[in-house]
Amino acid sequence: MAQHELFDIMASTRSMRRLKPDPVPDALIYQVLDAGIRAPSGTNTQNWRFVVVKDPDIKKQVAAVYQKGWAQVETMYADRPGPEHMEDTKFRRLINAAAYLAQNMAEVPVLLFACLKERPMPPELAARLARLSGSSIYPAVQNILLACRALGLGATLTTVASLHEEEIRAVLKLPEDISTYALLPIGYPMGRFGPVTRVPAEEVTCVDQWGTPLKKG
Ligand SMILES: Cc1cc2nc3c(=O)[nH]c(=O)nc-3n(C[C@H](O)[C@H](O)[C@H](O)COP(=O)(O)O)c2cc1C
Repeated sequence: MAQHELFDIMASTRSMRRLKPDPVPDALIYQVLDAGIRAPSGTNTQNWRFVVVKDPDIKKQVAAVYQKGWAQVETMYADRPGPEHMEDTKFRRLINAAAYLAQNMAEVPVLLFACLKERPMPPELAARLARLSGSSIYPAVQNILLACRALGLGATLTTVASLHEEEIRAVLKLPEDISTYALLPIGYPMGRFGPVTRVPAEEVTCVDQWGTPLKKG
């Protein structure tokens, strides 16, 4: 693979929330999962577990929980500005796209849940590690997003469904030690993969210690 291809893929893996209902071949879903499980995990535990939802009835149940979570997030942002770096019109566009995804979640061909098998922890460590709990699943999630992009599939990392974890657990019949960390709706995109817009690295990086700016290379 040419080096630039990976960088091009990373630079154009944006959230694709408007997806066609056309089915996605199982072989492609296997390929993105196979990319996911290449990720690192703490002490190589590989405690990721995935649930691929294609059944229309289960998708409807997932969509109902997602919509409940999304309604709470939407209310929160109704009179709140978006991130500082983003113009308000752009932020409102993001909210509209996210609302579209919520409304059309049941029609997305594949709803992929990224879960973790939780490990019992000594209580004194549990509180400290809580902040890091997702660090053994999100690298796999990012691999999956990149693999989707490489295969021409649209996807978005979403976490809204996990706001109602108990309900999602019941819908998916998850055992007690399995928790959800992300839901990736996957399908062929209606629009095009555009470049992602980000604050430049030199504006978010310090050298050696806080306050010393990085010079652009
Ligand atoms: C931790 C996390 C949670 C997110 N949750 C949601 C979500 O619940 N619903 C949604 O539509 N997008 C969600 N997103 C997608 C972000 O809105 C998106 O990555 C961000 O706006 C940048 O968009 P872009 O990659 O298209 O430039 C989430 C992203 C992350 C990293």
